[in-house]
Amino acid sequence: MKVFLETERLLLRQFTSADAELLIELDSDPEVMRFLTDGKPTEAQLIRDDVLPRFLRYYQAYENQGFWAVVEKASGEFLGWFHLRPGAPDSSQGLELGYRFKCSAWGKGYATEGSRALLRVAFAMPEVKRVIAITMKPNVKSAHVMQKLGMRFERDFVETRFPGADKAAVQYAITRDEFQKQGS
Ligand SMILES: CC(C)(COP(=O)(O)OP(=O)(O)OC[C@H]1O[C@@H](n2cnc3c(N)ncnc32)[C@H](O)[C@@H]1OP(=O)(O)O)[C@@H](O)C(=O)NCCC(=O)NCCS
Repeated sequence: MKVFLETERLLLRQFTSADAELLIELDSDPEVMRFLTDGKPTEAQLIRDDVLPRFLRYYQAYENQGFWAVVEKASGEFLGWFHLRPGAPDSSQGLELGYRFKCSAWGKGYATEGSRALLRVAFAMPEVKRVIAITMKPNVKSAHVMQKLGMRFERDFVETRFPGADKAAVQYAITRDEFQKQGS
């Protein structure tokens, strides 16, 4: 992944093998993990052995897809991450946008600001026709970000990728045409 992104208030950079502790801290907050694992922290060993290596593998496989670490420009603090990756179960769905931020970074418009930048990255790739985003149904903050991005509700479905008990999820999407009409 070659793209280093800068928005008004954020820097989006590649993760490195030195970032495990940042991810462990992010996933240790039950409020952050509420809709993903019913609040259970991700085990530190799993982050070191599986999660972070998986993030790093994207950089070998793709130019403009994968996970971006988010740093607040004003403080230099790590806030969380975005991803832009092939939609599950395959890329025929389009790319999948996702985000996870520390609670201290919520309510500042950061998720929306960075997501807009990533939609521009996505649609700068001629082969990308649409971008989807998925969230658990009760996660209204996350769905609200999707709505602010101009994404449309597309479907209710059962999401089994996360271990939380409630599997009811929603999918939003935006096409290249819809994005261009926004004049973004
Ligand atoms: C999902 C998540 C990223 C949403 O974060 P968020 O901070 O609520 O989203 P935004 O970045 O859009 O910020 C929201 C609020 O910031 C406020 N805000 C403050 N300053 C702002 C500014 N300068 N510009 C824009 N909004 C600003 C706005 O009031 C906005 O709320 P509104 O649109 O209702 O008015 C966050 O809840 C999270 O990380 N959750 C845990 C992980 C998770 O569930 N991820 C999604 C899994 S699918």
